[in-house]
Amino acid sequence: MSEGADGGGDGASARSPGGSPGGDGFAPSALGTREHWDAVYERELQTFQEYGDTGEIWFGEESMTRLIRWMQKHKIPLDASVLDIGTGNGVFLVELAKSGFSNITGIDYSPSAIRLSGSIIEKEGLSNIKLKVEDFLNPSTKLSGFHVCIDKGTFDAISLHPDSAVEKRKQYVQSLSRALNVKGFFLITSCNWTKEELLNEFSEGFELFEELPTPKFTFGGRSGNSVAALVFQKT
Ligand SMILES: C[S@@+](CC[C@H](N)C(=O)[O-])C[C@H]1O[C@@H](n2cnc3c(N)ncnc32)[C@H](O)[C@@H]1O
Repeated sequence: MSEGADGGGDGASARSPGGSPGGDGFAPSALGTREHWDAVYERELQTFQEYGDTGEIWFGEESMTRLIRWMQKHKIPLDASVLDIGTGNGVFLVELAKSGFSNITGIDYSPSAIRLSGSIIEKEGLSNIKLKVEDFLNPSTKLSGFHVCIDKGTFDAISLHPDSAVEKRKQYVQSLSRALNVKGFFLITSCNWTKEELLNEFSEGFELFEELPTPKFTFGGRSGNSVAALVFQKT
């Protein structure tokens, strides 16, 4: 996983040629731990307070536009309940609110991420965004009934957890099933998983609705995408 892999970054993934103990080819990484994200967002909060800089936008600005455009094209009602899983600095929530969505919730297991997103949202003068510290792998019972769930880099981060990453991914799919309404949409952007791999990860209870176009790269005569962006629908 690399920051800004879409639109600016190098698109390098965290896949290691040697493979991980879990057999997925991922090298376990600090990016999979809460301590890492707490430290990142603590730092970004300080930077925001000092300079007003909101910090890293994962996968670049275009990744947010791509999702919002899809929601508008498919006439997702502006009052549909939308959950941003692992919201980080919450900048995507701000963009959703500016696009007119009025029933939006951001969760993150890092309290410093939620403090940062709260500060950014407050500075933007937006008052109707719900924020909660929640571990999506162990969510509260209240985290249900959503029409749209969005993941930009969070499943990637969870996949890099040093312990039991395979189990954690299964827990993720279960939590998603609980959070999302039947026929609800799940929009995932990932730089660690290909389209085929994501189809496999979310094969139970979800079906592919649409693949969103992402920038292509060409290397050694072969072309591919460094980022996958898929829309699933809960069956
Ligand atoms: C790569 S960052 C992406 C942040 C944000 N979605 C964005 O696009 O800028 C991954 C985020 O997932 C959060 N995260 C990782 N595991 C989580 C979990 N189990 N529950 C909730 N949030 C989690 C991290 O704290 C971090 O904010």
